[in-house]
Amino acid sequence: MKAEKFTLVRHFDGFPKTTDFKLDSEELPPLKDGEVLCQAEFLSVDPYMRPYTMSMTPPLTMIGGQIAKVVESRNVKYPAGSYVIGQLGWRSLTIVSLDSSPFHKDAPESFRRGKAEVLELLPDLGDLPRSYGLGVCGMPGTTAYFGFLELCQPKEGETVVVTGAAGAVGSLVGQIAKIKGCRVIGFAGTDDKCAWLRELGYDVAINYKTCPDIDAALKEAAPKGIDCYFDNVGGMLSHRIRQQMNLFGRISVCGSISSYNDKTGEGAQVPVPEMTTVFKQLRSEGFIVTRWWHRKNEAISQMAAWVREGKIKVQEHVTEGFHNMPQAFMGMLKGDNTGKAIVKV
Ligand SMILES: NC(=O)c1ccc[n+]([C@@H]2O[C@H](COP(=O)([O-])OP(=O)(O)OC[C@H]3O[C@@H](n4cnc5c(N)ncnc54)[C@H](OP(=O)(O)O)[C@@H]3O)[C@@H](O)[C@H]2O)c1
Repeated sequence: MKAEKFTLVRHFDGFPKTTDFKLDSEELPPLKDGEVLCQAEFLSVDPYMRPYTMSMTPPLTMIGGQIAKVVESRNVKYPAGSYVIGQLGWRSLTIVSLDSSPFHKDAPESFRRGKAEVLELLPDLGDLPRSYGLGVCGMPGTTAYFGFLELCQPKEGETVVVTGAAGAVGSLVGQIAKIKGCRVIGFAGTDDKCAWLRELGYDVAINYKTCPDIDAALKEAAPKGIDCYFDNVGGMLSHRIRQQMNLFGRISVCGSISSYNDKTGEGAQVPVPEMTTVFKQLRSEGFIVTRWWHRKNEAISQMAAWVREGKIKVQEHVTEGFHNMPQAFMGMLKGDNTGKAIVKV
């Protein structure tokens, strides 16, 4: 059986390029006891892939999660025909050996540290599409749920700001904030994304690329100041937002995508907000979602229930074809996606 995989041939230097990837094929051996053969159905492209690979040594199979069908099995836990979710990398077919180690050799380090198993049966999503296992009912949904609720501790009537608001995580955070009775302001990179945010129930959506005066727009959108900030992007935009936080404001630092591809060092010129943090007595906390991995079923079942109740709307940005993984990944980093970026094999 022939498998295809994308090898990352060198570290990314600035924005990723197609030449950073090489499509390889390999003949897979017959299964041994305890092993399963997984055929990718949906693959995820996520921002973390960009910074995480910098601490790895190329050439390596490009890292990432996927939903796959078990097409052959010598492991009773994963019978043929079942669907699984796992950190199997950018591979069309994968043999996973589960007796030797719960972790696939290509799994990102933080999954090992967070004790997330590399392969799990896909949770029963009932009537919801299987692909939601990579988004609202998977890692991004768990990130939005715990990263926002645990660290921001939002209260009814408070004002919440979300950056990267039209993406996989951000679009969910804003909707959770509305469920909790908050006023929600989102920042996104196109007018179409902002229009979609308003459809989702965001009270105000601001295009951070075209807004001539972020400070003034924010003052108008949050006349009572900001109580919670869910930070997906870092950089100067986050600096401006922090200046308008209220006393005892809470900041959940989820990511800093504005610096992932930055070679210019501009990110380093963002002032350190020490005085604002002191005088406003802010609490700012970073996290990796695997911190709550032992509780992920709580997030998944709540997110699925909110989707079924119509309280959370979901959009997927689907790229067709395994061969288009690099294009899908680079497109997501550029902002092509509204909602969760995935690849359908
Ligand atoms: N801590 C954790 O455990 C954890 C888990 C998952 C994700 N994350 C982080 O959460 C953030 C969002 O991840 P996601 O999966 O939901 O991705 P996403 O938002 O669906 O996709 C990335 C988005 O980032 C925006 N972007 C790109 N360059 C930017 C820049 N220079 N400034 C501002 N925005 C920019 C683009 O939207 P625009 O068109 O709006 O620019 C793009 O669509 C990332 O920082 C990611 O690393 C952290």
